[in-house]
Amino acid sequence: MERRFFERDICEKGELSRTTAIYKVTLGTVAKRSNRFIVVNTLRKVHKNLGRFIAPLLPSGKFLWRMIAQNGEYLFHRTSDWRPTEDFSQRNAELFDNFGFRPDSFVGKTIIDIGAGSRLITIYFKDAKIIAIEPLAQRFLKTLSWCDLHKAHKIYSTPAEKMISELKGIADVVISINVLDHCYNFEAIIKNIKAYLKPGGLAFLSFDSHTDRTDLMHPLILTPEKCECIFRQEGFLVEKFTVGLNPQEKTYAGGKALNYWLKKASG
Ligand SMILES: C[S@@+](CC[C@H](N)C(=O)[O-])C[C@H]1O[C@@H](n2cnc3c(N)ncnc32)[C@H](O)[C@@H]1O
Repeated sequence: MERRFFERDICEKGELSRTTAIYKVTLGTVAKRSNRFIVVNTLRKVHKNLGRFIAPLLPSGKFLWRMIAQNGEYLFHRTSDWRPTEDFSQRNAELFDNFGFRPDSFVGKTIIDIGAGSRLITIYFKDAKIIAIEPLAQRFLKTLSWCDLHKAHKIYSTPAEKMISELKGIADVVISINVLDHCYNFEAIIKNIKAYLKPGGLAFLSFDSHTDRTDLMHPLILTPEKCECIFRQEGFLVEKFTVGLNPQEKTYAGGKALNYWLKKASG
C-alpha cells in the first residue's frame, strides 16, 4: 500500500517516468529495510559479544538484569520474524511432544507459565487454566500486535523472583521453558514455584546450562549440581532429568538444555 502510494505520488508530480519511479521507490524500500536489518543485527551482536566479556566482570543482580537483559530480551522478541508465524506454534508442539506431554495432559488443571514470553506456548495444553508470569508482559501487549498473552486466564507482569501471594497453593503444574538462565535469582524462583504448587504438584523446568561462560542476556550460570542442590533444599523430588531438546538439538541458545520434572511432596 505504502509503495503504491509513493509510486503514484511521484508519477503524478510528473517528475519521473513510471518505470524510474518504481525503480527508485523499490531501491528506497530495500535500503530502508536492509538498514533496519543491519542496525538491529549489529546491536544484537554487539550486545551479545560485548556481554560475554563484560558479564564475568560485573556482579550479577537485579539492576543489570532490568537494564540490560530485559531490554535485550524485548529487542529480541520485537525483531523476531519467526514468533508471529504458525511455525512457532508447530515448533512448540514438537518440543512438548518430545518431552512426553500431550495437548490433553492437563485438562481441567491450573498451569503457571513462568517467563511466558510474547507468545503463550502453554496454550498447547487444551482446557487448562493458564496463568502467565512474564516481566515484559505489559510491554509486549502494548507494542506487539501478534502478542497473545491475553489468552491467559491471568497475567502478572513481574519477575518470577517476586512472590505473588494470591498464587500460593493453586497450581497443579508449573512450566518454564527457556527462562531460568535469563533471570537474576534462581533460588528465589524455586522457592516461589514450591509455594505456588499444590501438594503432589509437578514443576517442569527446561533451561540452558551455561557452564563455561555466559552473557548479559543469560546472567545465570546453572549447573546440574547447583540446581539439584537447590531442588533438594526446597524439598523437591527429581522425578526425571534429561539433557537436550531432541536427538538433533542440544540447546535453546548456547550451552546445553537441562530438563527437570520435579514433584512437590504430597504431605
Ligand atoms: C527466550 S524467552 C522464552 C519465552 C517462552 N517461555 C518461550 O519459550 O517462548 C525468555 C523469557 O523469559 C523472561 N524472563 C527473563 N527474566 C525473567 C524473570 N526474572 N522472571 C520471569 N521471566 C523472565 C523474558 O522476559 C522472556 O520473555
